[in-house]
Amino acid sequence: MGLYDDHVLPRLIDVGCNMKESLPQRRRVCEGLTGDVVEIGFGSGSNVPFYPAAVSRVAAVEPADVGWKLAAKRLRSASVPVERSGLDGQRLPFADDSFDTALSTWTLCSIPDVDAALRELRRVLKPGGTLHFVEHGLAPEDGVRRWQHRLEPMQKRLFGGCHLTRPTVDLLEGAGFEITEVDRYYEKGSPKVWGANSLGVARSP
Ligand SMILES: C[S@@+](CC[C@H](N)C(=O)[O-])C[C@H]1O[C@@H](n2cnc3c(N)ncnc32)[C@H](O)[C@@H]1O
Repeated sequence: MGLYDDHVLPRLIDVGCNMKESLPQRRRVCEGLTGDVVEIGFGSGSNVPFYPAAVSRVAAVEPADVGWKLAAKRLRSASVPVERSGLDGQRLPFADDSFDTALSTWTLCSIPDVDAALRELRRVLKPGGTLHFVEHGLAPEDGVRRWQHRLEPMQKRLFGGCHLTRPTVDLLEGAGFEITEVDRYYEKGSPKVWGANSLGVARSP
């Protein structure tokens, strides 16, 4: 970590992840969140305005202090209690079976050991609990995939280890989640290499 990663990147993420195209996706992915929620990669709290009334509390997991500080404005008008409860999605400081639902938005791309993070989510979700996700990842088209592989080393250096080629749905299934809903699409207004999104719900059996 250095000046760029600690101070500049969280601010870039706050702006880049709040373009108008993200807002309807945030609204959709938060639909159905209920009870006690764990959100990994909380960032600057961009999902806070979209938490449904059925949510009782949110345990936010986020390593970047600046991200958490930038969240203050959104937290002031939050309709549910939100507490920064952990720093690393790969090691969640929670008991087994402690959450009803989980949320990850554009975060699985950046966690170094994504399999460990998914195992942790399975562990802390109650049986039948659901992970709501929207993630960019490996595109369906070969031509786009080739560019994703070419650009990934630069992307990782510039954007905090962000991968372009993670196959979100395969990773979730590999971790034992059952996909109950998924929509795969290119995000409007975004180049295909960055905008190959999967939005859905994965159930922990
Ligand atoms: C592209 S940003 C997305 C932020 C936010 N979820 C959003 O939708 O705006 C990726 C986030 O993942 C966080 N992150 C990186 N490594 C992480 C880890 N090991 N555990 C949890 N979050 C992590 C970053 O600090 C950053 O806030």
